[in-house]
Amino acid sequence: MSPVRPAVAREPIAIEPVSDIAVRHLLPTDSMEALTELLHRSYRAQMEMGLQPLAGRQDAATTQKRTSSGECYVAVQRTPAGEKLVGTILFHEVEDAKGPPWFQQKHVDSFSQFAVDPEIQGKGVGQLLLDTAERRARQCGAKEMALSMAEPDAALMKYYLRRGYRFIEHWQWPYTNYRSAILSKAL
Ligand SMILES: CC(C)(COP(=O)(O)OP(=O)(O)OC[C@H]1O[C@@H](n2cnc3c(N)ncnc32)[C@H](O)[C@@H]1OP(=O)(O)O)[C@@H](O)C(=O)NCCC(=O)NCCS
Repeated sequence: MSPVRPAVAREPIAIEPVSDIAVRHLLPTDSMEALTELLHRSYRAQMEMGLQPLAGRQDAATTQKRTSSGECYVAVQRTPAGEKLVGTILFHEVEDAKGPPWFQQKHVDSFSQFAVDPEIQGKGVGQLLLDTAERRARQCGAKEMALSMAEPDAALMKYYLRRGYRFIEHWQWPYTNYRSAILSKAL
């Protein structure tokens, strides 16, 4: 039997910005398996809460289909060994499933499949990706940027509220086991 570890007081984390990060379009040469693994790693915390987000369990073919239905961006870290995939966001995904009423309006655009590798979360990579998607929405003439999130994830809700998003409505997607919250931000 392994010994029980004593509780260790957590030191405050010094949040250092990560260097050598670039955001670029997903390229045909990027690995769908690597992108899918990144999504699974990033959404694992929600899966452990008993939630079933699609991005937390989809296969590589679904990732391929979803990324081709919108504009996919990736955050890459340049290392001596080459580029490492560390984050992603999907702007303007067109889904097969019926979306919430808020998404149907012409002045509203949206993003989805937003994830950062848990190893470097909290260091501003998410903000870089969000800025990219919001900039693209403005360029496309949108007046609102919207998203759908798992309502039970209270920490995530706070993350978006701190960034100017507000609650709009609830929505039930056919492929999830939770109620989603639709949030939106005036651009
Ligand atoms: C949501 C997500 C993409 C944000 O990415 P990120 O790189 O962590 O985002 P940022 O670094 O820009 O901001 C993270 C915030 O959390 C805080 N934070 C996150 N992890 C932290 C940590 N380990 N230590 C301290 N602070 C942390 C940061 O200080 C920052 O706080 P702020 O809101 O006061 O600025 C990322 O957390 C993620 O992949 N989550 C799982 C998947 C998910 O839920 N996606 C969204 C679906 S709608």
